[in-house]
Amino acid sequence: AVEVIRTASAREAGAAAAAVVANCIVENPRAVLGLATGSSPLPTYEALQEKNLDLDGVKAFALDEYVGLGPGHEQRYRHVIRREVIQPLGLRPSLVRVPDGLAPAPEDEAARFETSIRCAGGIDLQILGIGTNGHLGFNEPGSSFSSRTRVVELAETTRRDNARFFDSPDEVPTHAITQGLGTIFEARHLLLVANGPHKAQAVARAVQGPITEAFPASMIQRHPHVTIVLDRSSARFV
Ligand code: GLP
Repeated sequence: AVEVIRTASAREAGAAAAAVVANCIVENPRAVLGLATGSSPLPTYEALQEKNLDLDGVKAFALDEYVGLGPGHEQRYRHVIRREVIQPLGLRPSLVRVPDGLAPAPEDEAARFETSIRCAGGIDLQILGIGTNGHLGFNEPGSSFSSRTRVVELAETTRRDNARFFDSPDEVPTHAITQGLGTIFEARHLLLVANGPHKAQAVARAVQGPITEAFPASMIQRHPHVTIVLDRSSARFV
């Protein structure tokens, strides 16, 4: 079942989503979280910070990571997650796993990552953004609903959408490691956050469009426990 929470602003959406995360951690101080990057979940992480929760026992897995960005590149998701999540929230770095986008054999790294999630007992609460093309993580249109963590090629639309984080469009990586749609689907609770008018159409297709691998986010309609938190502009068509 999909629960839609509409709010007036990105800031309020962040507060509502943070309340969902906080509730999960209060119920289970050793909860396993899935962490999305991108601009959408930022207000959530900010609102969570104000709650001053004890996150010492919380384990977390990143949703995805670029392949091949240099060790110090600030857009490597391992650095983004350290800056935006681990440091401000006080997560234990040793309990946060991000796929290594510089592993010599990225496919093997993806398989190890999948195993790590399973060994941790699976993900309790997966935080998600949504791409304008309906991607979840870096599962681009056409990804199988049963896909596992793997190396994928980024869609041109995604490389263009994300070019704003880089000095030049050419610098955007062509490949990434992403949790698969099947991996994401196994999380016990999905928390999808979206903000801005440019996400309104994607949100509507995810929530009420046909369920198809051509639009990966439509998968959420089959999941037993989904919460979607929207600001006013992203909620326009739902
Ligand atoms: C990015 C990330 C996704 C994210 C999505 C939306 O490329 N890989 O995990 O959810 O695209 O990004 P944003 O929230 O910045 O719009």
